[in-house]
Amino acid sequence: MIVAPSLLAANFGKLAAETRRVERAGAPWLHLDIMDGHFVPNISFGPELVRVLRPLTRMFLDVHLMCSRPEVLVEPFAKAGADQITVHVELAERVTPLLWKIKSLGKKVGLAINPPTAMSHVEPHLGQVDSLLIMTVNPGFGGQPFITETVPKIQQAAAWRQEKGLKFRIEVDGGINFQTAAECARAGADTFVSGTGLFAQSRFGAALRKMQKVVDAESAHSPARPI
Ligand code: DX5
Ligand code: ZN
Repeated sequence: MIVAPSLLAANFGKLAAETRRVERAGAPWLHLDIMDGHFVPNISFGPELVRVLRPLTRMFLDVHLMCSRPEVLVEPFAKAGADQITVHVELAERVTPLLWKIKSLGKKVGLAINPPTAMSHVEPHLGQVDSLLIMTVNPGFGGQPFITETVPKIQQAAAWRQEKGLKFRIEVDGGINFQTAAECARAGADTFVSGTGLFAQSRFGAALRKMQKVVDAESAHSPARPI
C-alpha cells in the first residue's frame, strides 16, 4: 500500500522545502499534477520543476499529465527525472503510442481515467500499464469532494487484474482523506494520492502515518486482494 502525497496541495512558495518535508515524513512516492490550462481549466507546473526537485529526493516521482498534447511533454518529463508518467485514456486512439513512448523512455507507464469515462476504455490497455489511475474527482483542482460513484470502477479494476493475472497498481486520486482512502482500499486500491487530505492537517508526518495505517489495516482485511 503506497500513499503518494500530491505536491499540488503544498506551499508553492517553497516547493523544495515541501518536497524535503514529504520525504522526511516517510512518503515513498511524490505525486506531481501537470495541468496545461486546456485538458483541464488550470495550470500547475512543468518539467523544469521536476528537474529541480529530482536531485533533492529519492522519492518515486509520479507525474500525472492532465494535458491535451502529452506527445510533446513525455520526453521532457522523462529527461527531467520522472519515474512514472501517466496519460489519460480520454486521448483515445493516441493512448497506445503514448504508452509505448513512455515505456521506451525507460519509465513506468500510467493510464488515468476520468469519472465520466467508462472502464471499457481502459480494458484493452491493461496489459501495457504499471498503474491504472482512477480519478475520484474531475481533474483540475485540489480540494474537491470524493465522488462515491467511482468506487465500482476500483472493484472492476481489481477484478480484471485478478482474472487476467496482471500486476498493475490501482491508484486513486482526488478527495482522498482517511475515510475515503479506507473505502478505496476496501474496493481494491493499493496506491493513494492525497493532497488536501494530508497537507491541510496540522502535522503532515502524523497525517501520513495515519493514512498509511488506515489503508494497511483495510488491505489486511480485504478478501478481494490477490496475494
Ligand atoms: C486533481 C489532481 C489530484 C489532486 C488531488 O486534479 O489530479 O492529484 O492533487 O488533490 P486532493 O487530494 O486535494 O483532492
Ligand atoms: Zn493527480
